[in-house]
Amino acid sequence: MRRRLGVNVDHVATLRQARQVRYPDPLAAALVAERAGAAQITVHIRGDRRHVQDHDLHRLAASVQTLLNVEAACTEEMAAILLAVRPHRVTLVAERPGEVTTEGGLDVAAQSAEVAVFAARLAAAGIHVALFIDPDAPQIDASCVAGVDMVELNTARWAETGDRAELLRLAAATERARSRGLSVAAGHGLTLQNLRELVLAAPAIEEYNIGHALVADAVFLGLETSVRRYLELLA
Ligand code: PXP
Repeated sequence: MRRRLGVNVDHVATLRQARQVRYPDPLAAALVAERAGAAQITVHIRGDRRHVQDHDLHRLAASVQTLLNVEAACTEEMAAILLAVRPHRVTLVAERPGEVTTEGGLDVAAQSAEVAVFAARLAAAGIHVALFIDPDAPQIDASCVAGVDMVELNTARWAETGDRAELLRLAAATERARSRGLSVAAGHGLTLQNLRELVLAAPAIEEYNIGHALVADAVFLGLETSVRRYLELLA
């Protein structure tokens, strides 16, 4: 299976926003990432707009040659933006105001009816919808109930702890999701150091969305080389 790399360019925008200037441009980064072999460009539009801005989404949607995957929370504000931009995919995430980064998966099990309605609105506009969830059976089963055909498994806990039990949890969740007909992506906290272990433990994960470490590595390696190094680990 050819595994896809989604390059998350949020933190190129973080650097730009730190100075409120026009560079570095996340769109320019997206085009370099595509040239290096990324299958998808991912961005997270946050309620506080700490990195990617609304205008970035419109520019990315117009120029990305592969697929544009926008991560967003299930709010009315985001629904309006997403329906205007119409990216190829939206990945619905949980967001807590003030969090440093995404703290956990969307609790689909606790709100599958609401998530289903929100996802259906996006799907009706031709947007492919995925749910970012913790790698737990109830979340996978609820995602099926919510009517989506793809989940992204939250790898944060394994990435932070390196705990083998967490790796096995990701592998089991991948199998469960696949057996229910879901496509499986993964992301959060993945690095050049930990990625290969996950690929080997859960070979059915089709797509990886990686941002912070990949952009950090690009400071030293250059973005094109950084993307290629991650792609080598997915082969
Ligand atoms: N996937 C999702 C759903 C995310 O929210 C994030 C962080 O925005 C990522 C992947 C990428 O995580 P990281 O920046 O740690 O690689």
